[in-house]
Amino acid sequence: MEQLGTTLGATSLGGPTIPSGGMGLDHPVQPEELTGIELLAGLPWPALRELAGHARRCEFRPGEIVFREGDQGDSMHVVTRGQLSVVRPSRDPGLVLQRLFRGDVFGEVGVLNAAPRLASIVAIDQSETVEVRKEDLDRVLDADPKAMRQMLGTLAFSLTLAKEELARHNSKLESKVRERTADLRESQLELVRRLAHAAESRDDSTGIHITRMSRMCAQLALDAGMSEAEAQQILHASSMHDIGKIAIPDRVLLKEGPLGPEEWEIMKTHTTAGAQLLAGSRSPVVRMAEVIARTHHEKWDGTGYPEGLRGEEIPLVARMVAVCDVFDALVSDRPYKAAWLVDDALSEIEDLAGSHLDPDLAALFIAKRPDLRAAE
Ligand SMILES: [Fe+2]
Repeated sequence: MEQLGTTLGATSLGGPTIPSGGMGLDHPVQPEELTGIELLAGLPWPALRELAGHARRCEFRPGEIVFREGDQGDSMHVVTRGQLSVVRPSRDPGLVLQRLFRGDVFGEVGVLNAAPRLASIVAIDQSETVEVRKEDLDRVLDADPKAMRQMLGTLAFSLTLAKEELARHNSKLESKVRERTADLRESQLELVRRLAHAAESRDDSTGIHITRMSRMCAQLALDAGMSEAEAQQILHASSMHDIGKIAIPDRVLLKEGPLGPEEWEIMKTHTTAGAQLLAGSRSPVVRMAEVIARTHHEKWDGTGYPEGLRGEEIPLVARMVAVCDVFDALVSDRPYKAAWLVDDALSEIEDLAGSHLDPDLAALFIAKRPDLRAAE
């Protein structure tokens, strides 16, 4: 479908326009001109001759209206030259619903049921049609019930074909939309991953922590009974948990040795800074990431930051991230410590259950034993 304005110039279907009806041309319509029309193909020769004898040849200038939506259907047309458009200003203003070319028929439903026209027809180019009036068609069909049945059969058949075509078209469109949505989602997630790695690269040049931690979060979510889709969401959202470190100065983030009280306060702001960075998104993954960024350093006993939330006040996803974040920090080499053995790190998780960490999630994590090879 296209914009009406570009093809119809200054013509307006809403206001005063060139009068409809076209110009009758002198040379008579031959029955042979009607035989190629599928709808009339079943009519016997005398009937076609009679219809042709009463048919009128019409010519329309560009922009001229053949008939208007809502008009009484008193004739049908066959396009013999040029190009016309089908428009429905009441429901689809500004859109061309269909283009009609030589051999196309329009107005046929109106002559069969005498209902008001469903759409307006407007000439795009200098166009010519053959017009068959309802009263002539009625007379011919009344005299030949077999031809009437044949004509209705043809109409029903073309309607069925049109419905099938529409269904095929819709199905193709749906699969294209699904494909594009998946592409878009993949590019969004790639951006998210790149952004998360960029934030992390200042104090974790390998990016292993972020990858391994987010995969453990997704596994813990599955172990806790969440769906595959929820686990995928957690996988991506958890990778942004420390994105607020982007706002922490090097002298604090990269400092070797313990932080002083003022430096520690600055470090703690990576939670709120990350949440602000991610705030206001329509994406469910980014909204979840915002929650995680703000609350992943809250502790089960209420001694965490930034808000001192306690127990189940801390969002479930953030409690999961806390378990995996603490564990992964323990089993990672850091400038100030060597990596712990897995068993020692799991013992530490057990010790922190109920104080720092959600005791149920900590127990589940220990029971399932994280698969560190998932990051390789
Ligand atoms: Fe953090």
